[in-house]
Amino acid sequence: MADQPLFIAKFEKALHDRSAFSCGFAPIDGFFKSSISQQIKDNLVTVWVASEDIANKSPAKGFYVLNVHSVTAAEAPQLAGRSNRPTVPAVYLNAVAVDQSCQGNGIGTALMIHAIQNAIDISELAGCAAIILDVLNDGDQNALNRRVAFYKKLGFDFIGNAEQEHRMFLSINDAKASLR
Ligand SMILES: CC(C)(COP(=O)(O)OP(=O)(O)OC[C@H]1O[C@@H](n2cnc3c(N)ncnc32)[C@H](O)[C@@H]1OP(=O)(O)O)[C@@H](O)C(=O)NCCC(=O)NCCS
Repeated sequence: MADQPLFIAKFEKALHDRSAFSCGFAPIDGFFKSSISQQIKDNLVTVWVASEDIANKSPAKGFYVLNVHSVTAAEAPQLAGRSNRPTVPAVYLNAVAVDQSCQGNGIGTALMIHAIQNAIDISELAGCAAIILDVLNDGDQNALNRRVAFYKKLGFDFIGNAEQEHRMFLSINDAKASLR
């Protein structure tokens, strides 16, 4: 697995086979298999897929989904800086998932680094202060802890808002520093 090439590219039906994809969490699999084409057509999200072949259709090994977003300054005072803006622009990571057959091999980390780089690029084009996500909580505390550890290793921290207990962020400034 570690020796296989890994390509991350925007989702294309002709290149990425989703039919056998399973990350172990049915709602995420369902979203990937049946909702993304329409959401892409409606310009609501971009979807980025990891696969081992960039020239021929091959199985999707993992994917992530981005859209633009904003949080209120009250929700995330650490991102509002010294401005009086009522909202803070951000990039939202809708989902990240890796097929069960290849979890634990660094694909999720590679996808996240790609997502963070995309967020940095977006911030250069339109201004955005952070990448934000909500950690999936399916009631399994051990799985939740592993997901949180995964994001913390990448520099994410909790926003600390009681109403969004599992919301984490990485500021674009810290993202730039970590990828430098
Ligand atoms: C979380 C996930 C994207 C990580 O991708 P990955 O390729 O397995 O991750 P990497 O190999 O780069 O990094 C390994 C770390 O990911 C996390 N991880 C790995 N498998 C996991 C799983 N089944 N559930 C939760 N976290 C997992 C752990 O923190 C792990 O570190 P550890 O081995 O020291 O515990 C992937 O496991 C997955 O798709 N899980 C199911 C869907 C999901 O939970 N998505 C996140 C929603 S917030």
